[in-house]
Amino acid sequence: MLSKTMEDALNRQINRELYSSYLYLAMSAYFKAANLDGFAHWMRLQAEEEKVHGMKIYDYVIARGGKVMLQAIEAPKAKWASAGKVFEEVYTHEQKVTGMINTLVELAMKEKDHATFEMLQWFVREQVEEEENASAILVKIRMVGDVPGHLFCLDHELGERK
Ligand SMILES: [Fe+2]
Ligand SMILES: [Fe+2]
Repeated sequence: MLSKTMEDALNRQINRELYSSYLYLAMSAYFKAANLDGFAHWMRLQAEEEKVHGMKIYDYVIARGGKVMLQAIEAPKAKWASAGKVFEEVYTHEQKVTGMINTLVELAMKEKDHATFEMLQWFVREQVEEEENASAILVKIRMVGDVPGHLFCLDHELGERK
């Protein structure tokens, strides 16, 4: 059984994961409109991953006899100044999400909720990867130069994401 505090916190995180999905989908549409199909593909897969993250917590809340309470998903913005700016935002956003996961872990510890603590360890590991991926792409964008013409090779590379 989940405590009410833990249940509320997990419901909030479902919303934040679905917002991440929405944000990356908006970024995918931005890249598509800029004819950077590889970037658009990468972001679309990222959006799908975030939905899976949200659903992992959703399934967990139900498995523990909790109540899923879906809230309105905030609208993401639709325009960015450049590919570099997008990935700066992805990197910052993922660092923010890491902070949220850490806060959830601390709450689980405080509540002596071992099952939730254990479930969250997957997210702790996932966030290491998420930050690493975002920062690696940001470094590459800066290396090739953050202008559409220079991003061609990188666009091809990101388009290979499975
Ligand atoms: Fe996530
Ligand atoms: Fe993420």
